Amino acid sequence: MLNIIKFNATAGAQTVPVMPKQPRVKPDTGNIKIDNVSISFGRGEQHHLAVSETSIEIKPGEFVCILGPSGCGKSTLLNAVAGYVKPTRGQVLLDGKAVTGPGPDRGMVFQQYSLFPWKTVRENVAFGPRILGRASPTPEAIADTFIDMVGLTKFAKRYPAELSGGMQQRVGIARALANYPTVLLMDEPFGALDSQTRHVMQENLLKIWGEFGITVLFVTHDIDEAVFLGDRVLVMSASPGKIIADIPVRLPRPRDPDIALDEDFMRIKRLCHERIKQESMRAFDQQNT
Ligand SMILES: Nc1ncnc2c1ncn2[C@@H]1O[C@H](COP(=O)(O)OP(=O)(O)OP(=O)(O)O)[C@@H](O)[C@H]1O
Ligand SMILES: [Mg+2]
Repeated sequence: MLNIIKFNATAGAQTVPVMPKQPRVKPDTGNIKIDNVSISFGRGEQHHLAVSETSIEIKPGEFVCILGPSGCGKSTLLNAVAGYVKPTRGQVLLDGKAVTGPGPDRGMVFQQYSLFPWKTVRENVAFGPRILGRASPTPEAIADTFIDMVGLTKFAKRYPAELSGGMQQRVGIARALANYPTVLLMDEPFGALDSQTRHVMQENLLKIWGEFGITVLFVTHDIDEAVFLGDRVLVMSASPGKIIADIPVRLPRPRDPDIALDEDFMRIKRLCHERIKQESMRAFDQQNT
């Protein structure tokens, strides 16, 4: 049983066991290979090279964070792994098989909330398990588990429009996890959350990752978040985006928020900051002229 930190308005943060018994994903699945990928949009004067000649290999069960300035191609790259965007050149391989479209083996948490507006929270989260034909536990039981995990049990019957942005994002996370994916693709998933909820979600994500052995590719603007979560931090250049640094995070696990006070944590953080600062200024200039 996995213990998850849950929020309770009166009692504060509590640790509760909520995960149903599920088989662990075999640690030999979830290998992502981004092989010399370039992605362009538009033609003629509108042509834009968003991602340029990028190659990355991510081992099964690895937690990799991507940092980069706004507009450098992070979402585009993640969308290529998810199968929503087709590379103009190169290919993405998952466990040796070319990605040709989306699939339940890759759960995606989008940068913008992307729930079905006509479905309730419970129906949104149960949708994936229902499509996959899950019978035991039922799609509703799976949904309830993950809704509980993100602290929204009281809102299970509400519609997305009745939730705040941060709450909708938490439903998006529950929905992605409900398929028990091999790979979890997260595009700034906690960006809209208040800092307290964000820290709880980060710790819960690490617990889920540790328990299920999923591969996580996590885009963020927050250097602290990237170093706290990742085994590696990849830094992307200003547009056209390519990987300019691959920084290993050799900090012990399980990680506690206090690790942010550790000297090694600060050293890695400084390294990330140095690499990203110049690129962010370059991106700003590009977008302003
Ligand atoms: N469907 C599309 N059609 C045309 N251009 C696109 C499309 N999607 C992305 N782009 C362009 O590709 C570039 C990279 O966009 P992307 O969304 O990947 O950036 P990002 O790094 O995720 O930025 P942010 O940090 O602001 O989310 C941008 O210049 C964007 O305008
Ligand atoms: Mg983005």
